[in-house]
Amino acid sequence: MIIAIDGPAASGKGTLGKRLADHFGLAHLDTGLLYRAVARALIDQGTPLTDRDAATLAATRLDAAHLDESRLRGAEMGEAASVISAYQPVRDALLAFQRQFAAQAPGAVLDGRDIGTVVCPHADVKLFITASPEERARRRHNELLKRGENNAFETILADIRRRDERDISRATAPLRAADDAITLDTTHLDADASFEAALKLVLTKIR
Ligand code: DC
Repeated sequence: MIIAIDGPAASGKGTLGKRLADHFGLAHLDTGLLYRAVARALIDQGTPLTDRDAATLAATRLDAAHLDESRLRGAEMGEAASVISAYQPVRDALLAFQRQFAAQAPGAVLDGRDIGTVVCPHADVKLFITASPEERARRRHNELLKRGENNAFETILADIRRRDERDISRATAPLRAADDAITLDTTHLDADASFEAALKLVLTKIR
């Protein structure tokens, strides 16, 4: 079984993806980490994010075994990942790995921006997780505080709006719900209620 989860930044899709994967005994891939790792490679080399060729090379050489570094989840990498993810050759270079991951037995949960539309168009279940920008900024603010990053709420909200705009308006694989995706708005749901609602949707779909 393949579950595809898409949605905007800080919508809670990563947490949901992990919980659904644990529930069904499936592997889980947060595909945002792949783009964040490409961005990290450029930043560590001192290469500008505008260098498409360097970004493509970094994507080709990406070692997916090193995606657990805490630094990848910081605000800087999220913003940088949003920039390099707009380059089609970078997306092409990361596609095979994501599809191989999805093809493993007994199945997988992948979350990102284009899982239901591009990476796994034949997924058994497609969820589109969303929440208001203000609620996503509030969650991201709390998350970053836990990591020791004390950014102003207004700055985070502005970052989220900018990232939404960039992810939605890019020419290649823009963020959008697949035609056959089920949308879940978690603005008024906490993590447990979001999981229960998502689980119900998945069970309805696969029964
Ligand atoms: O989900 P995230 O915040 O970790 O993603 C970081 C950026 O990576 C996001 O702004 C856009 C990009 N991304 C993408 O283009 N496609 C994906 N499947 C996942 C992430």
